[in-house]
Amino acid sequence: MSEWMIELHEVSKRYGDLIANDRLSLHVKKGELITLLGPSGCGKTTAMRCITGQHRPDEGRVFIGGNDVTDVPTHKRDLGMVFQNFALFPHMTVYDNVDFPLMIRGLPKEQRRALVADALRLIRMEGLEQRSPRQLSGGQQQRVGLARALVYRPKVLLLDEPLSNLDAKLREEMRFEIKEVVTKLEMTAVYVTHDQAEALALSDRVAVMKDGRIQQIGTPRDIYETPRTLFVADFIGLSDFIQGNVLAIENDRARISIDGLQLRVNRTSDLTVGQAVTLFVRPNNLELLDAGAETGENVFEASISKMTYLGDTIDYRVILPNRQELRVQTDGQRRFEPGSEVLVRFPPDRCHLIAESE
Ligand SMILES: Nc1ncnc2c1ncn2[C@@H]1O[C@H](COP(=O)(O)OP(=O)(O)O)[C@@H](O)[C@H]1O
Ligand SMILES: [Mg+2]
Repeated sequence: MSEWMIELHEVSKRYGDLIANDRLSLHVKKGELITLLGPSGCGKTTAMRCITGQHRPDEGRVFIGGNDVTDVPTHKRDLGMVFQNFALFPHMTVYDNVDFPLMIRGLPKEQRRALVADALRLIRMEGLEQRSPRQLSGGQQQRVGLARALVYRPKVLLLDEPLSNLDAKLREEMRFEIKEVVTKLEMTAVYVTHDQAEALALSDRVAVMKDGRIQQIGTPRDIYETPRTLFVADFIGLSDFIQGNVLAIENDRARISIDGLQLRVNRTSDLTVGQAVTLFVRPNNLELLDAGAETGENVFEASISKMTYLGDTIDYRVILPNRQELRVQTDGQRRFEPGSEVLVRFPPDRCHLIAESE
C-alpha cells in the first residue's frame, strides 16, 4: 500500500476564467497533519473541496488511501470535516449532533452510545450532552463540531479555518487540542488557515500557497528559517529584505555585497557569482553591540532611529551606512537610545539568501 494517505496529482480547478488551483500537487503521509497556509483567495478551500469531493477537478487526479477517488462522491470517501461556521444542527442536543453521523450510517444503538461517549470525552464535553448548541460558547460549539467529525473514526480529517470565528485566546488553546486529538486518534489531517502562527504551531508540515499553487512545503522550521521565495519569507513572520550581489561562493557560505558592504552568509541554494540575490533577515536574528565594541566580519556601524517597547522584546529601527532601515528585536537586556551609534552584527548562520531579487 502507498505510504501516502492523501494525494493530489496536478489538480487544476477553474471558475470561469479564474484558475483557483493550478496544477497543484500534494502528498500527505499517513498520520501526518499538513496545513495549507496562504492569503485569502489563494485556493486553499478549493483544494480542500477537491479532497472532499465537493469539487471535481477540471484536470488531475485525487487519491485517498492509495485509491483514485476523483470520481467517488464525498459520502463514500470516509472523511471527517470541520468548517469555520460550526454548522451544528441548532434544534438538536449536543448528544444528537454527535450521534447524527452514526445514525445515518445505521450503526446499532449500543455501539453508537459508546462512540458518542468516547468522542465527547475526547473533547472534554462530558456532562453537556443535553445542551442545545445555543447554550454553548463558540469554543464549545467548535469542539462539538470536531466530535461530530471524528465520532465515526474516519481515517482522514479535513479542517477549513475551523478556529476563525473564535477569539484570539481561545484560538490559541484550541490549536493544541486539535493537534492532540488528531495525534491520539492517529488520523491524517489537512488543515486550512491563513494564520501563520496557527500553521507553525499545529503542523507536521506546512504548504504555503500563492495563486493556486504551492510555493514551498516543509516543516514549520524549514518554512520559517529557510524560506525559498520572497513571498514565503514575507508571509511568515517578520522579515527585512536587502538587495545584493554574489561576490564569491565558499562551500556552504556565500560572500555578498550590499551597496559596497560585504557580508558572509549561509548558502542554502545554488548561486552563481554576480547573481542578484536578496538577503533576508528576521529582526530577532540580528545583534546590536555598543559602538566600538567589536569589528570584523558582518559587523557594521549603524544608528538607532527608533525604539519601541513591546514587553517581551524591544523593537529598534536601525539605519545602516547605505541608509537602509532595518528592524532589530532584542530581549532588552541592553538598552540603546534613539540617536545613538551602535554596531549591528549579522550572524552568518542566521542570515539567508533567496535567489530572487525584488
Ligand atoms: N464558487 C466560486 N465561483 C467563482 N469563483 C470562486 C468560487 N469559489 C472560489 N472562487 C475564487 O477562487 C479563488 C480561490 O478561492 P478559495 O479556494 O476559496 O481561496 P481561499 O480558501 O484560499 O481563500 C478566489 O479568487 C475566489 O474568489
Ligand atoms: Mg477558504
